[in-house]
Amino acid sequence: MTNSPPKNTANSRAVPQIIRERRWWLLPLALWGCVVALSLELQIDKIREQSTQVAIEGARNMFRMVMLTRNWNASHGGVYVPVTPATQPNPYLEHPRRDVTTTDGVAMTMVNPAYMTRLIAGMAASDGGVVFRLTSLRPIRPANLADDWERRALEAFERGETETTGTEQGPYGPILRYMAPLVVQESCLACHAKQGYKTGDIRGGLSVSQSYAPVEASTRNGIRQTTLAHGGALLLLLAVSWGLLELLRRRWFELAGKMGELEEAHGQLLQSEKMASIGVLAAGVAHEINNPVGFVNSNLGTLKTYTEELIALLESCRAGTATEADFVAAEFDYLKADSADLIRESRDGLERVRKIVADLKDFSRLDQAEWQEADLNAGIECTLNVVWNELKYKAEVLREYDAELPRVPCLPAQINQVVMNLLINAAHAIDERGTITVRSGHDARWAWIEVADNGHGMPPEVLKHIFDPFYTTKPVGKGTGLGLSISYDIVSKHGGRIDVSSTPGHGSTFRVSLPLLARELTGQTTP
Ligand code: HEC
Repeated sequence: MTNSPPKNTANSRAVPQIIRERRWWLLPLALWGCVVALSLELQIDKIREQSTQVAIEGARNMFRMVMLTRNWNASHGGVYVPVTPATQPNPYLEHPRRDVTTTDGVAMTMVNPAYMTRLIAGMAASDGGVVFRLTSLRPIRPANLADDWERRALEAFERGETETTGTEQGPYGPILRYMAPLVVQESCLACHAKQGYKTGDIRGGLSVSQSYAPVEASTRNGIRQTTLAHGGALLLLLAVSWGLLELLRRRWFELAGKMGELEEAHGQLLQSEKMASIGVLAAGVAHEINNPVGFVNSNLGTLKTYTEELIALLESCRAGTATEADFVAAEFDYLKADSADLIRESRDGLERVRKIVADLKDFSRLDQAEWQEADLNAGIECTLNVVWNELKYKAEVLREYDAELPRVPCLPAQINQVVMNLLINAAHAIDERGTITVRSGHDARWAWIEVADNGHGMPPEVLKHIFDPFYTTKPVGKGTGLGLSISYDIVSKHGGRIDVSSTPGHGSTFRVSLPLLARELTGQTTP
């Protein structure tokens, strides 16, 4: 048994071990084996029982035949037969007319049922096969004394049993023994009343012994046949089961492979979405920084000219060549005022750059994977600054913050990303110039952030799909269609929800609700 190496080991993890590793298949196959073995066992038992039943029925018939002849004899109170060397008068029969002579002088003797049975049994034994014998616990004829097996049977009859069967090993192979009682009837009393028997007593029994060998041979034959049939069925079952499992395994691997490919593609798209939003950010930030850097640079140029003029004036003062006209030409008062302005303006510009960099750092919170009790209003504010470049030409932004908003347990960088997505979508929904309203609020269990625009809105059929991955209404190449899907995932991970309402032509409102008890609710899942 070899495990063909699956092409993609990462995907093969998705296939359950019991399907992946063939050695586990031995378990169900062994179970099949057990079932078949059990069935075989039951079949063999049944065959054995049936052949024993057949053998016993044969012995029972033999018993009935003998009983018929005996009863016929007893009903005549014994019958007379001619005396021959083989049929001598019965010494145990005490009867006043045991021996008689016919009128023409033939000697006749009376044969009682027991004697007749013995005579027939002699003939049957010499014929081979069946041996039968009359026995008693208290025999008139000593040779009729029961052997061990017969004695136990007779004792059982005394207790009310009606027949006994058994097998034993005889000199020529196994023997089936059968025995049933002889009950004293009216007709028996003629001869047996004097031993004290009454009708209904058990006088003794008739035992029938038969060779069991032919029965055993046919039993063995039957057993061999069902064993072969069961073996064949088991082999077929194992082969078919193995084949089906093999098929299942292959399909499963194929499926796992496809799923792996899908996951990979999904991962790549997520990555490109991330890159796209980084692009938006970079463009915005570059713009925001460019502006102040530009005028700081030009201010420094002006300041450089001023400084050069001042130095020239100072040098001519030292040389003693400076005149009143030089001071007037230098416009000293203007220089004083303007350079102060330029320095203040430049410092303001640099402060703006510093703030943008700080916001950017806040927005992406380098320690992303950590849950924090975050101030959502501050997060919104920082996100607004970061995406300001995307918004400022499109919309006037109104802030309606909940001043009492409690801190919310969350991954702040991820919530910022959600807010950024909503803000950028809101800006894109506005065609000319409009208003974006950002609200926050809370109740006992939830805190929420709302981003509302008065842009073109969405019809219901678009609304139905906006959280589907890859769904986008933007032109090809303008958006991955993953922004809202990612936002949805992030908010779900926080145990929260996103609700949307939208009216075509009037704008849309997105509300992100986050549970205030997120830690308890979600068991602090780390993404
Ligand atoms: C004609 C007389 C006679 C009649 C009728 C008769 N028997 Fe007997 N039976 C004998 C004699 C005699 C023996 C002694 C042993 C022998 O002959 O083998 C005997 C023996 C037996 C034995 C063998 C045990 C032993 O004592 O040696 C049994 C069992 C038996 N009889 C049952 C019956 C039953 C049951 C009936 C009635 C259906 C019956 N007999 C009717 C005369 C009779």
